[in-house]
Amino acid sequence: MSQVNLNSQINQIDIDNLPRHIAIIMDGNGRWAKKRLLPRNFGHQEGMKRVVEIVEASTELGIKHLTLYAFSTENWKRPKNEIEGLMKLLITYIRNELDKLIKNNVRLNILGDVTPLPDLAKLEIRRAIDETKDNNGMVLNIALNYGGRDDIINGVKTILKDVELGNISIEDIDNNLFSEYLYTKGQPDPDLLIRPSGELRISNFLLYQTAYTEYWFSDVLWPDFKKEKLYEAILDFQKRNRRFGGI
Ligand code: IPE
Ligand code: IPE
Ligand code: MG
Repeated sequence: MSQVNLNSQINQIDIDNLPRHIAIIMDGNGRWAKKRLLPRNFGHQEGMKRVVEIVEASTELGIKHLTLYAFSTENWKRPKNEIEGLMKLLITYIRNELDKLIKNNVRLNILGDVTPLPDLAKLEIRRAIDETKDNNGMVLNIALNYGGRDDIINGVKTILKDVELGNISIEDIDNNLFSEYLYTKGQPDPDLLIRPSGELRISNFLLYQTAYTEYWFSDVLWPDFKKEKLYEAILDFQKRNRRFGGI
C-alpha cells in the first residue's frame, strides 16, 4: 500500500474509540514458508518482523494493551527443532528490541507458565520484565506456553489457596475477583481479537477474557500481516455496535 493510502487509513481511525486491548493469534508462519518451499522456521523468522512492526504501530496509535499469542500449551507437540527455533527467536526478539521497548515506554508482561522454557529464554524474559517494569505506556503481553484452560485452572487453584488461607471467602468470588487470578490480572479484557491465516477458531487462547470480545479474521498469513492490516481491523472494529447483552 502506498504511503498516501496508509496515511488516509490512519486518519480515518477514531483515536477516541480505540480498542483498549488488542489480542492477536499470530498464525500462518508455517504455511507462509511452505508456499515458498522453505523450512517452517523461516516463516517464524519472517513472522518476528511483523511482531516488531505491529508492536511499533500499536504504540504509535496509543493502544494500551497488546497481547500476542506466541506459543500455546499445545505447541509442545511440534518437532523439537521447530520448538528450539521458536525459543531462539524469542531470545533474539528480546535482545534486539529491549532498548526500543524501553524507549517507547512499553512494559513487557508474560501470560502463561514459563517454567518449562529453556533457561536462557527465562533469563532474557526476566531481564526484560525487570527493565521495563516501571514503564507506563503500552503493556505488551506475550502469551508463552499459554492456554486458556490452563489460565482458568491455575486461577482456580490460586483462589482456592486464598480461601484455604482465609484471605477471602467463597462468597467473595465473582467475575471481578476471579479476573484478578488470571494471567491478565489488572488488565481490561480484549476489545478486539485478530486471527490471521484463515483459521476460524480460538485455539485455547483467552477463553475467559474474550466473553464479549469482537473477533476479526483475515486470510492473510501472519508473515504478511503488515500494519495496514492492523489499521483495517481497528477501522472495522470501530464500525461495530457492541451491546454486551443490552439493546
Ligand atoms: C504460528 O504459525 C506460530 C506458532 C504457533 C508458534 P504456525 O506455525 O502455526 O503456522 P501454520 O499454522 O502451520 O501455517
Ligand atoms: C495458535 O496457533 C497458537 C499460536 C499462534 C501461538 P496454532 O497453529 O497452534 O493453532 P491450531 O493448531 O491451528 O488450532
Ligand atoms: Mg498454526
